[in-house]
Amino acid sequence: MNTKAKGLRTQILDLVAKYYELNFTPDDFIPGKTNVPISGRVFDAAELQYLVDSSLDFWLTTGRFANQFEKKFSRLFGLRHAILTNSGSSANLLALSCLTSPSLGEKRLLPGDEIITVAAGFPTTINPIIQNRLTPVFVDITLPTYNIDVSQLESALSKRTRAVILAHTLGNPFDLSSVMDFARQHNLWMIEDCCDALGSTYRGRQVGAFGDLATMSFYPAHHITMGEGGCVLTNQTFLKKLVTSFRDWGRDCWCETGEDNTCGCRFDWQLGSLPYGYDHKYTYSHIGYNLKITDMQAAVGLAQLTKLPHFIKARKQNFTLLYKGLKDLEEFFIMPQATPGSDPSWFGFPLALRPGTSLTRDQVIRFLEAHKISTRPLFGGNLIRQPAYQNICCRIVGDLRYSDFVANHAFWVGVYPGLSIDQINYVIEIFHELIKTKKDSQKLQPLELGGLKGARL
Ligand SMILES: Cc1ncc(COP(=O)(O)O)c(C=O)c1O
Repeated sequence: MNTKAKGLRTQILDLVAKYYELNFTPDDFIPGKTNVPISGRVFDAAELQYLVDSSLDFWLTTGRFANQFEKKFSRLFGLRHAILTNSGSSANLLALSCLTSPSLGEKRLLPGDEIITVAAGFPTTINPIIQNRLTPVFVDITLPTYNIDVSQLESALSKRTRAVILAHTLGNPFDLSSVMDFARQHNLWMIEDCCDALGSTYRGRQVGAFGDLATMSFYPAHHITMGEGGCVLTNQTFLKKLVTSFRDWGRDCWCETGEDNTCGCRFDWQLGSLPYGYDHKYTYSHIGYNLKITDMQAAVGLAQLTKLPHFIKARKQNFTLLYKGLKDLEEFFIMPQATPGSDPSWFGFPLALRPGTSLTRDQVIRFLEAHKISTRPLFGGNLIRQPAYQNICCRIVGDLRYSDFVANHAFWVGVYPGLSIDQINYVIEIFHELIKTKKDSQKLQPLELGGLKGARL
């Protein structure tokens, strides 16, 4: 870049910072008027500057910002490889699809093989199982962790079980110790969906560092954002190569975008029944996709990464404030609980209506939404009840009663770093107002604690 261009670039980036100051100053919070969202982008001038900087490179596809991000991100987990992709859903698709590679020999997943997962969760944790013609085996969850009921793992096992894929629900790690022991004992692949759990730890170690593969989402709702974006993590170089191949059209070549002949024998390969010397860049060893990310997205992520420690701290603080503020309503709501041994970087604050209370979830969420407090259900509830899953080929362990329970009675509110203490206090106040209003109008009876029969509360 010549000196004049460099100078102009500096000026542009300075102007971007000024633009940020003028255009993105947060509005004051007005209780009852301003929304209290469940999530959102939290950024400052740096994200805009990185975005513009990358656009001025005009490299467009995966490039220097993506490379930097991948290096920094893998280091966070003490893992060798982070492979960026265009969404968390793509990350899950890549993590599972790469295990179908013929290069894995006996360990390769074949159509009809069984993959253990839970029914209460996000669709694209399990869709790759179906998309790869594998069979999902659904087990139930427990409350109030909203994670897999590990006591069902043994009954889920069959001769065809080959892998386990589970998400750390709303940032709360699942019982990694039991699940990892089970996976090791039965020689199963383990995929951790960490899309909602960046920064959560289990026994002092980052989630994502336990499984063979782990996935992340950088959609705006998540702990850091690139707009759209995702990542696959692994410590195993052969898996990194497979993930990259599936991401990049299924190609055999591993050159970075814009590079050629890094293997030194680009025209000396003979693969498949291609002629000897066929260009390695155009040789395909997998039925792949193109799920690469652009460098503009990665640039935003790189700026976000510096804020991650603060984001995690803020999520934990907001969770604690809500927990303390709502604890006295425990006779109406089942309060969330961190999995023993974990320290969650919460994605949201889940609550469920205690069975038998005359208050319904519908009443609660309508009241909150009417007071500008956003709510969400626990993703797809019991996914097998969703229209898309009516005719899938699957196996179900037990009766999924707690998956049904969350589908009917659970919801969550936000804890994201963009919420101020005033907003959190407002949420607590409105919950109390709701209980007071309903008590007055319905003579609402508080229930005995532990009202959900059989649940681990
Ligand atoms: C647990 C889980 N997995 C996967 C995804 C998919 O991520 P994305 O929206 O980036 O495709 C989400 C999305 O929120 C999620 O919550």
